[in-house]
Amino acid sequence: MTLRTPDSAPADFDNDQAPPPAPSTTAEDMVFHELCPTADVEEGVGKPFSIDGNHLAVYRYEDGFYACDNRCPHMGYPLSEGSVRDGVLICHWHHWEFDLKTGGCFLTNGDDVASFPIDVRDDVLFVGIPKGAKSAARQRLVDRGKRALEQGLKDRSTFLIAKAVTALRESGATPQEIIQHGLFYGAHKTSDGWSSGVAILTLCGNLWDDIDPADHNLFLVHGLTQIANRTSGSSRRQRFPFPRTSADPDLVTLKRWFRRYIDLRDRGAAERILLTLHDRGEPVSVLSDFVFTAATDFYFTGDGHALDFANKMFEGLDYVGWEGAHEILRPIIVDLVSRTRHEETSRWQDAVPVLEPVLSRIEEIWAANQAAPEETLDVSAFTQIML
Ligand code: FES
Repeated sequence: MTLRTPDSAPADFDNDQAPPPAPSTTAEDMVFHELCPTADVEEGVGKPFSIDGNHLAVYRYEDGFYACDNRCPHMGYPLSEGSVRDGVLICHWHHWEFDLKTGGCFLTNGDDVASFPIDVRDDVLFVGIPKGAKSAARQRLVDRGKRALEQGLKDRSTFLIAKAVTALRESGATPQEIIQHGLFYGAHKTSDGWSSGVAILTLCGNLWDDIDPADHNLFLVHGLTQIANRTSGSSRRQRFPFPRTSADPDLVTLKRWFRRYIDLRDRGAAERILLTLHDRGEPVSVLSDFVFTAATDFYFTGDGHALDFANKMFEGLDYVGWEGAHEILRPIIVDLVSRTRHEETSRWQDAVPVLEPVLSRIEEIWAANQAAPEETLDVSAFTQIML
């Protein structure tokens, strides 16, 4: 597989309060669908319709007819059950208010509701649905679910995360989209290394087809909650790959530098090298070789977690198609440089020198063991040698 460079804009977690732009409702590129005779829609009483996968609420108000998405952007209550006062459509669940004609929401951070043009032909109503409105509607719901998920992650609220995951799944978001969003947030909104969140989310993707569909959401929520518990909400400091020149260092040099900077615990330098490899479009085999080599240059870095998380990070990136890899790759450098190496511990320094004479004879001991007739093997003597 060849890595993709970040050609599309990453999720903008630093501007996550901006509502999405309202969809265009110009008559261009519209397909008009017949609804009903004008007499069927009473003044001030909403009427629901379902057209080509779009759920609509239609109102008669003063001089005309108006249609909008029937699902309130807040929590989906049918707007056809609302009421209109002075041109303002009011949802009857939590009283969000919208301009009936444009769908603009009066709440500062509330999402607008999509509106649709109505044409009256010989006393019959026709509604204009943009071509591709179904996929656009799905994308709007997915984007809204992602913003709700970011809020839940930021607040470290399992309840909000569960709500967002449910909304995302109902809007048709794929597990890849949800897991990618969690991994990207987990990498971007902390200065730490990876945690069990990357392992759980990746396992969730790996096992998706094997687990009971009733447990899918639970699996996602569990992984995302672990991600949330390790994020701070503030952004990781930006770092960039090396500039591209005609004299780019070769892979042998980059690998030598990478291992040295990991050894020296120089996080910034090692991160730049990894980002440079990604920016140059080096294949996964090269990136994983760099990371796994550095993870095994020392004994059991972080009790083996650096190797474990690196493995899960690469599996997770494969699962999400390497979308956002320029950010998702970064935390593993923290695991490589800041976790304890076993040879630095007193446990290791007290025990390994004692074992070294035995370990240097291990081949000889094993050969003697294998050469001895089975009935003469003295297990307790062998154990004494090993101990
Ligand atoms: S669902 Fe409409 S305001 Fe809450």
